[in-house]
Amino acid sequence: MTYFLGIDASTTATKALLMHAGGEVLGVASPEYTYETPQPLWTEQRPDLWWQATVAGIRQVLTRTQVDPADVQGVGLTGQMHGLVLLDAEGEVLRPAILWNDQRTGAQCDEIRRRLGKERLIQLTGNDALTGFTAPKILWVREHEPEVYAQAAHILLPKDYVRYRLTGQFATDKAGAAGTLLFDVKARDWSPEVLDALDIPAHWLPPTHEGPQVTGHISVEAAEATGLKAGTPVVGGGGDQAAQAVGVGAVEPGIVALTLGTSGVVFASTGQPFIEPQGRLHAFCHAVPGRWHLMGVMLSAAGSLRWYRDTLAAGVDFDALLTPVADVPPGSEGLLFLPYLTGERTPHPDPLARGAFVGLTVRHTQAHLTRAVLEGVAFGLRDSFELIKSVGLAEIRQVRISGGGARSALWRQILADVLDVELVTVNTAEGAAYGVALLAATGADIYPDVDSACAATIRLTGSIPPGPASVAYGEVYPLYRDLYPALRPSFNAVARVAM
Ligand code: XUL
Repeated sequence: MTYFLGIDASTTATKALLMHAGGEVLGVASPEYTYETPQPLWTEQRPDLWWQATVAGIRQVLTRTQVDPADVQGVGLTGQMHGLVLLDAEGEVLRPAILWNDQRTGAQCDEIRRRLGKERLIQLTGNDALTGFTAPKILWVREHEPEVYAQAAHILLPKDYVRYRLTGQFATDKAGAAGTLLFDVKARDWSPEVLDALDIPAHWLPPTHEGPQVTGHISVEAAEATGLKAGTPVVGGGGDQAAQAVGVGAVEPGIVALTLGTSGVVFASTGQPFIEPQGRLHAFCHAVPGRWHLMGVMLSAAGSLRWYRDTLAAGVDFDALLTPVADVPPGSEGLLFLPYLTGERTPHPDPLARGAFVGLTVRHTQAHLTRAVLEGVAFGLRDSFELIKSVGLAEIRQVRISGGGARSALWRQILADVLDVELVTVNTAEGAAYGVALLAATGADIYPDVDSACAATIRLTGSIPPGPASVAYGEVYPLYRDLYPALRPSFNAVARVAM
């Protein structure tokens, strides 16, 4: 028997997933952890947490499935993107990692645009400078913690710290590297021009690999810690969004993946590097060799519903909360929700954007508020979807929906109606960890390429066509669109009160 392991070092847990070479999932373990917010706008996490959870997760999954570690023929890595891990020359962690959702680097983003020119920056990296990306974090450490910066010798992304602990190698994948803002997306390698302009030593960065390419092997120490066999190959893998897309089979141009997780993502695979000239969408490398993707990211999607449940509907379980929503008409009788609870990225790259209910009256019930949250998230995703449609990609043939929020049939229907597009579901539910297990299987030549790996394992399971409510949503969406520009000055002012 032949098995592959996918490891996803996310913000809240590290998932270890064991997959049979044929695609069946045998077991999953997800040890959890939290992150720190030492100051407003900051998010940090100790890299050691990912390593401890990786060790625990691999051990748990091996014990539960009773799979012989000698039969695990490859490991794929994925994880939260954009985070900054700084190591010294001995490979010791210099400070807690600064995470993808950290918003402290507004001034450094301005500095990056100033040094390269916004247009040139977008041409090279495919992206405008955003606070969550890695490059501005490096500049922040240089400015604010010069004693730390002086000792820096290696820059890694979170999952590549796990790779380093597993293999002893410094390496990363092209999809993850594209999220640093230091990468030439067209050339699929680090950009000497950006590194020069930002004065970041090129030798601090690890070599980059395609998703299925072997980057190293499980070391003797890591074998002792995890129970895996020393010498097991570890492939490049991918940043979590590209890996998630592989995990639902969104690999060919024309297939769009819509992920309704804590964050919400609209992801379109492309056969060439496709850069949105104003940088309103992310243009990154795909974890599939020779492919790219465009992506819109909404920071609080299912995260908005969770916040709402935890605060305004505490103690109510999700089913009880969602059932009465079906009786509220589309548009929630004039109640709108803006989902910018943690600031926003697409289409409003604004850390100081804020959430809001607009249009409340005494007639509105809890069910109206709940429906407004579901609809507000769907409108936010439509913003990204419209942008992706507007850049002139060849036809969008299919939209695949996944993520925790997509388990709700009601929310899936609202999304199909708001986007006015047919959505399809697939048989895989383990997302990014599954995607990198497929990349590891491809790297081991079980499949000739990633397309074949997806075709052999991922099936369509259902379809949600847009219904009659799409007409009502067509009328409400422009009202939603008008709210952010109108409220922006107030959002910025109130956000500063909390700092
Ligand atoms: C992608 C992004 C998130 C993080 C967190 O651009 O910021 O998906 O990777 O998981």
